[in-house]
Amino acid sequence: MRSNTFLKLVALATLALGFVKAADDLPIYTDGALASGWENWSWSSTIDFAATDLFVGTSSVSVTSSEWAALSVKLEGTFPTYAGLRFDIAGAQPDLTIMIQSSTDNAQSPSIPLSAFGKTISPTGFTSLLIDFKSLPGTGSPLGDGTWDRITFQAGGSGATYHLDNIVLVSSIVVAPQFLSAEPFANNVIAVTTAGPVDLSAVKVTLKGAPISISGKTTYSPPDTPAKSITYFNLASSLGPGPLVITAGNTTFNYTLPAVQYGSIVQSVNYPINPHVYGVNFPKSASYIQTLGVPMSRWGGNAVTAYNPFGGFTNAGNDWYFENRASDSADDWLGWVKGAGSASMLTVPALDWVSKDASSYSYPRTQYPDQKAFDPYNSDAGNGLFPNGSYLSPSPDPNNAYTPWNTTLVKKWLTGLKNKPTIVTIDNEMEIASNTHQDMHPSPMGYDEELSRVINFATAAKEALPNVLVGAPSTCSWWFYWTSSIGYTDNAAHYNIDFLPWFLGEMKKQEAKSKKRLLDYLDIHYYFQADTSSNNATAKATRLRATRSLWDTSYVDESWVGSDPQNHQWNPTAVSLIPRFRTLIDQLYPGTKLSIGEWSSTNDNDLTGGLVTADVLGIFGKYKLDAATYWATPNELGPVGLAYWLYRGAGNFFGRSSAQVNLATPNPDTQGVYAGTEGGNTLSLVIINKNPNSPIAFDMSNVPAGNYLLRHFGGGAGLVKWQTTISIKNSQYLVIPAYTALFLKQTP
Ligand SMILES: *[C@@H]1O[C@H](CO)[C@@H](O)[C@H](O)[C@H]1NC(C)=O
Ligand SMILES: *[C@@H]1O[C@H](CO)[C@@H](O)[C@H](O)[C@H]1NC(C)=O
Ligand SMILES: *[C@@H]1O[C@H](CO)[C@@H](O)[C@H](O)[C@H]1NC(C)=O
Ligand SMILES: *[C@@H]1O[C@H](CO)[C@@H](O)[C@H](O)[C@H]1NC(C)=O
Ligand SMILES: *[C@@H]1O[C@H](CO)[C@@H](O)[C@H](O)[C@H]1NC(C)=O
Ligand SMILES: *[C@@H]1O[C@H](CO)[C@@H](O)[C@H](O)[C@H]1NC(C)=O
Repeated sequence: MRSNTFLKLVALATLALGFVKAADDLPIYTDGALASGWENWSWSSTIDFAATDLFVGTSSVSVTSSEWAALSVKLEGTFPTYAGLRFDIAGAQPDLTIMIQSSTDNAQSPSIPLSAFGKTISPTGFTSLLIDFKSLPGTGSPLGDGTWDRITFQAGGSGATYHLDNIVLVSSIVVAPQFLSAEPFANNVIAVTTAGPVDLSAVKVTLKGAPISISGKTTYSPPDTPAKSITYFNLASSLGPGPLVITAGNTTFNYTLPAVQYGSIVQSVNYPINPHVYGVNFPKSASYIQTLGVPMSRWGGNAVTAYNPFGGFTNAGNDWYFENRASDSADDWLGWVKGAGSASMLTVPALDWVSKDASSYSYPRTQYPDQKAFDPYNSDAGNGLFPNGSYLSPSPDPNNAYTPWNTTLVKKWLTGLKNKPTIVTIDNEMEIASNTHQDMHPSPMGYDEELSRVINFATAAKEALPNVLVGAPSTCSWWFYWTSSIGYTDNAAHYNIDFLPWFLGEMKKQEAKSKKRLLDYLDIHYYFQADTSSNNATAKATRLRATRSLWDTSYVDESWVGSDPQNHQWNPTAVSLIPRFRTLIDQLYPGTKLSIGEWSSTNDNDLTGGLVTADVLGIFGKYKLDAATYWATPNELGPVGLAYWLYRGAGNFFGRSSAQVNLATPNPDTQGVYAGTEGGNTLSLVIINKNPNSPIAFDMSNVPAGNYLLRHFGGGAGLVKWQTTISIKNSQYLVIPAYTALFLKQTP
């Protein structure tokens, strides 16, 4: 092994001679077998290292992995500082994620989905892909230093079949200087993204055929993703409608800037935004909370129903073969979350059992030999289904995996917490326990059982922690807002009153009986119902429109909700979520707050998911929601994380109060416009252009001239935390590029 000192001396010597001699590439696989020094650390996969059905040279690697299984290769030693990983791949667009890992300290690179390369993979021929360790596909973040020694190609939940060939760690990658995008922003800015050492003096701008002179420029390279830079060129005059041509070296970027839409902002008409609407589930770390400005953190999800605080165990339920595992301590979690500046929403288990240890499971093969599936990592743990898909019977003994749980134990736990939660919710999606936790609660939960569990556990929580606020019943979706797992016969047994309206009325009656309020937040989970899983252009546009379901009483849901709503509510084909629940609360239990403990953009990896999130965060503030936490943890560098950063990043926040926005021609299908203010005199604006191809422009009254912090992501500039300070000369022409979320905030 060469020492670092030796490498440095070689580097100095070669630099002194004016050239750098590249080290050799390190082959991992060429033909026949793994190259020497590489070990096969794969699992649950059928792998042929000498496949001859499709190959370059004499053979290739053929891989068939079952769900979540992987081809994984490990070097005997660590990678020296290679520049990247190149490989050839063939397959029918296999569902694969690539990770660089360290077996020394278990460090792991961000997951790189095959889709992040933006190339179509063919089943009949190889496509060559390159991972640049300075700019990983997807996030653009660098791999960074580490004791890297392992490369894993992991299949998704449906497995994957593919071929690989010519896998090699490359010693150098030459980044050709390149102008990647050039887009108009705000009143008088052209933002140009670049890779490598480009000639910035080669940028020229013409509007309606006439050159516009450039009065200055600022270059910014984001610390998280330094491989790309952006340069903001200030124009000597304002942008305006007409053809805009930006030439940058040998690349031309053309736009047709549109006519303005008229609008005005009224900062004096405002009301407070509850910062708790910018929450997430399970933030990764204190620095995550601070970087994204997360003011509310939730401990929730299916696994926390069986959380046993006395042993530090939990059970995955039907998310993963009803298996127990060790859990972090909720008390420690509450402590560090609070230390980072976030309030907390803690789930209190409210069924009759919690996990008894870190290793048991409910459906051992030894007891139930005939099951549909077994854990690929533990062939004795089954999924609780007969091969035909129906639930196993008889139900398993809950003592297989669990120990009894009740309100006495809840009081003991909560009383003993060193760190107190802000809000507790009574379990999680209890109404579907007969599915998610069929092993311990096989019978469908009805109205009466759910109400009594909420009352008993909320009483216990408030006895243990007199100042805690209680949220319930954390119902999973639109269907179960209105009925139970028993079905509409349960509604009929309750005067045909739909579930949540009935629940609110009962909790109000209970307050009179208990002489105190047991329900502070009506907590619901909300998932957009339209099927956008194809993620094609139609699906993306639907995803972007669906944010209207949060507020718009005239938006007929583009899903089964819009055609077959079943419930007994008014205007039932329009979800209009926040106004609808405000009305129900005002009618049935006034004073109750409204929280959304889980929601999702429906696509955490696509730019449109980030634009949806930016729109939704604007809507939550504007429509006075009390709290919300994203499911699950947004990747800080992914589209959803970028939307949180846009509003809250690094201590620069969207206004504390929501200010009035008046638009002459509102177009919520393709635009979101939100204004915030601090005390009526510091304006912040978020504008989302959901149109994939065309810029939009506003003539917006009461946007004062002066300096603004500009942040943006999306569009040609891509998924990066871009920001700068700009000077707006006038607000008669403010442009937002296609598929872009933009934030502006007045700076002193
Ligand atoms: C590599 O590992 C996989 C998964 O354990 C195994 O099926 C395969 O036979 C191994 N191949 C070789 C050549 O060792
Ligand atoms: C454009 O310019 C870049 C950088 O100077 C160069 O690498 C590239 O080859 C040029 N492309 C064309 C099509 O001329
Ligand atoms: C952009 O516009 C210029 C000037 O009108 C024209 O010469 C050029 O062909 C256009 N380029 C593209 C890619 O449309
Ligand atoms: C599924 O298989 C089980 C066990 O063989 C059987 O008892 C059950 O009736 C079957 N269910 C259906 C819907 O066929
Ligand atoms: C809860 O379980 C404990 C231990 O079995 C028992 O002592 C206690 O009485 C139970 N509490 C309730 C409310 O049933
Ligand atoms: C998008 O996918 C859906 C569902 O597969 C399909 O019905 C629709 O035609 C597709 N639209 C486009 C534009 O490809």
